Amino acid sequence: MTRISFADSFVWGTATSAYQIEGAWDADGKGESIWDRFTHTPGTIQDGSTGDVACDHYNRYEEDVALMAALGLDAYRFSISWSRVLPAGRGALNQAGLDFYSRLVDALLAHNIAPWVTLYHWDLPQALQDEGGWEVRATAEAFVEYADVMSRHLGDRVKHWITHNEPFVAAFLGNAWGIHAPGKKEFPKALRVAHHLLLSHGLAVPVIRGNSPESKVGITLDLSPAVPASLGSADIQAAQFYDGFHNRWFLDPVCGRGYPQDILALYNMPDNPTGMIADDAMDCVQPGDMETVAVPIDFLGLNYYFRTVSSHPHDKSELPQTAFRLTAADNTNMGWEVAPQGLYDMLNRLHTDYNVPAIYITENGSSYDDDLDESGRVRDVLRQRYLREHLFVCNQAIRNGVPLQGYFSWSLLDNFEWAFGYLQRFGNIHVDYETQKRTIKDSAYWYRDVIAARGFDLV
Ligand code: FCB
Repeated sequence: MTRISFADSFVWGTATSAYQIEGAWDADGKGESIWDRFTHTPGTIQDGSTGDVACDHYNRYEEDVALMAALGLDAYRFSISWSRVLPAGRGALNQAGLDFYSRLVDALLAHNIAPWVTLYHWDLPQALQDEGGWEVRATAEAFVEYADVMSRHLGDRVKHWITHNEPFVAAFLGNAWGIHAPGKKEFPKALRVAHHLLLSHGLAVPVIRGNSPESKVGITLDLSPAVPASLGSADIQAAQFYDGFHNRWFLDPVCGRGYPQDILALYNMPDNPTGMIADDAMDCVQPGDMETVAVPIDFLGLNYYFRTVSSHPHDKSELPQTAFRLTAADNTNMGWEVAPQGLYDMLNRLHTDYNVPAIYITENGSSYDDDLDESGRVRDVLRQRYLREHLFVCNQAIRNGVPLQGYFSWSLLDNFEWAFGYLQRFGNIHVDYETQKRTIKDSAYWYRDVIAARGFDLV
């Protein structure tokens, strides 16, 4: 039997986001967000649902914090709903919204659980979208005002801040492919959105540090290693493109390398094989922006779910789906390949190629069809296996010298999974959406034991 041990200082956590769990979408003065608008538009969500109620966490946060304590978690990563605090995105403050987060932070601290705040997990105030959203520079400035408000009010108690969650997804799924809010399908605009998201990160970091000097501040990227479907040169090229398009487009600017030149050149090439033409989208980059984006961070948050097997598309009209097709080997309910090797590779790369100062896995998890059995238990053996395999490669990476300092499972609760509605269950804890009853799944009891022992036996 091999013992897989983690340092005592390794941070064990779980993660959620505001729109996916809070509900109370218009309670106590909250303003509308782009996700409220999007889900209230027929035909956008697979099961026709909304986050209006979700897990009702806004009203049940004390019960949820008690469950976290029962699992022995060190930390909890959650996001703030911007329009709950600043209903119009800037200007007037909604005290009731701010008070909710303040109470949540106090409840966590009372249980010795460190609050990790994500400022932006995709729910832009609709009022800002109406003024152009992330396509316009003014939204980055509004984000700084919001970051200032939050860090001034919570910075005495919150010591870990994440500016953005997965800017790739916010930019491209929301603006190029139209499957997330705000539902736009205009590729070059997504590049502008991406730039303003990154810019707002760079502008906000010093503001947060100014308000909360001992805080650690970072950004969370979703990174997916691109693997060629074959060793043919066309597939290798497709994988290189995907890596640039998805990973390096965000990682390089944050790490001070600017936008990847190979991808920029491709975007600017008329009739290029990707079908993606940037036109004048990059005009939005102003002198000094790339230096702003490259502000030193204390840690990089890594969200890892799968690797991307890339193949050369035969027909341009098939893009981008064909180029980013996943293999179907051993899939979760999302159709996402279980590939812990991809996490191992990405961790090593972040260390050796990018030399990032510290890494936290801010999301990793799996969706399966979980049911309560007759005795009321959720026997989610596949999720436990997923967790064990991914924690194993984390441990291997740490042995290689990768500065991986913590792991947050996605997610504390089954919740509203964006375009899939309530059809995908990622939780450590099962939620019956009719009754709002929470049931700790078997895999979460295993996770609790790993946390308590700071490791596990490989059997
Ligand atoms: C990530 C999101 C998170 C959740 C998981 C499954 O991309 O950050 O909110 O939806 O995927």
